Order: sequence, then C-alpha cells, then structure tokens
Amino acid sequence: MSALLSVSGLHAGYTKDVMILRGTSLELSKGELVVIIGPNGAGKSTLIKAIFGLLKPSRGSVTLEGEDIAGLMPHSIVARGVGYVPQVANVFPSLTVEENLDMGAYLQPRQAAARRRELFEWFPLLKERRKTRAGKLSGGQRQLVALARALMPDPKVLLLDEPSAGLSPANVDEIFQRIGEINGRGVSMVMVEQNARRALVNADRGYVLDQGTNAYSGPGRDLLHDPKVIELYLGGK
Ligand SMILES: Nc1ncnc2c1ncn2[C@@H]1O[C@H](COP(=O)(O)OP(=O)(O)O)[C@@H](O)[C@H]1O
Ligand SMILES: [Mg+2]
Repeated sequence: MSALLSVSGLHAGYTKDVMILRGTSLELSKGELVVIIGPNGAGKSTLIKAIFGLLKPSRGSVTLEGEDIAGLMPHSIVARGVGYVPQVANVFPSLTVEENLDMGAYLQPRQAAARRRELFEWFPLLKERRKTRAGKLSGGQRQLVALARALMPDPKVLLLDEPSAGLSPANVDEIFQRIGEINGRGVSMVMVEQNARRALVNADRGYVLDQGTNAYSGPGRDLLHDPKVIELYLGGK
C-alpha cells in the first residue's frame, strides 16, 4: 500500500545547531490511525510541528500523496488536506465556539456556515454552547472545540498532539470515542499520546520515539506486548 503521508530521515530543530529530530521516519496509509508514544522531550510534538510546516526540516523528506511538502507554510499544508490540533493553546479563548470553528475555515469562508452546521450535528454539545466563549468551557469541551475547528476544512489527515492530556477520565473516554468515530469516517490520523497503552490498543500501528529517532515501531498490539517496549516505555508489567 502506498503511503498517504510519509516522513523519511527527518532532521529538524528550533535552532540551526541543535537537532531535535535526528532521522525520524513515519508512514501513514489511507484510513489508518497511527500513534506516536515516547518519553517527555523525545521530540513527538516537534515531529508533528515539522510535518505541519511550523519547523523547517534541515534534512529528510515529508511527502503527502507522493508530493514533497517539507518546508511548505502551514496554510499551504492545510490547503492540501492536513489538519492539526496542537498540544497546548489550541482554542481562541476570547472567541465563541462558533467563531473558533469559523477560524478553522479561513481558507474557504463561504463554506464555513454549512460545514459548521454539519459539525454541530456531530457535536451537539458544541451547538448548545455555540455562543459561549471557548475560555469559559471545561477542558474536555475545549478539546472538542479544537477537534471540530481542525475538522472544518474537511481534512484527509489529522495530526493530534496529546488530545487527552489534562482531561478527567470521563472526558478522556469521550475524546477517544470521538477520535475513533472521526477515523471511522475515513480521516487518517497521526496521534501523539501519553496515555500510551490505551492509545496503542486502538492504533493500527504505533511508533516509539526516543531522543529524536525511532526506537520501535509496529502494529499497536504488537508494541503493547513487546517486553522491551513494556519495560522501557509503558512503565513495566
Ligand atoms: N519552542 C522550542 N524552542 C526550543 N526548544 C524546544 C521548543 N519546543 C521544544 N523544545 C525542545 O525540543 C525537545 C523535544 O520537545 P518536544 O517535541 O516538545 O517533546 P515531546 O513532545 O516528545 O515531549 C525538548 O528538549 C524541548 O526542550
Ligand atoms: Mg509534546
């Protein structure tokens, strides 16, 4: 199967001299949910940012449907069908839910209202809260706003950076369920998660990133049962 998104031998960092990613590779096929786990500071967020054009790679390639997108600006990457939900600061707190969603459609403002109605069908809670400022919502609700905003342009690929971080157990359940549904509707996904076991159970494939390089990769359930992965990255047992 040919990859929808392919990252190969990527080197990138925040300054010229310090590379955070040192030869990272990743593949996402159509329809897959691929999960990235690894210790704090491994470079998981950096990898997502580099795919989305927020960091310019110094070596290696990023291709989307065979086309090189490394070094393109984020808005060009959005226009090619990639959405991104950042780990932090992923909503505009002073804007309403509705305005947040419309920010996600800034490339096609005329389609915004129709797409927003579709997403409100899908996320009834957001419809109820559409006139509420995002900053007034609970953490779980804000995460749904961020997800819906990223879905506004109807992306083929969604990049999710720790969508369950800081949420209560009930909200973690809801966000994982939503992510599963979105994937079920055909959106291919790369998801970074600290909730590693849970994320790997539902993943088609997983990658363990450590110190900017791939440590392990394989089907989600194989990683879950790999003694080395368990010992080093899943906290034993
Ligand atoms: N904006 C930044 N400027 C400089 N260094 C950064 C920045 N963001 C992250 N880093 C550094 O890059 C490394 C990887 O960070 P990150 O990709 O956020 O890790 P992870 O998401 O795996 O926890 C860390 O050493 C971190 O301190
Ligand atoms: Mg991170």
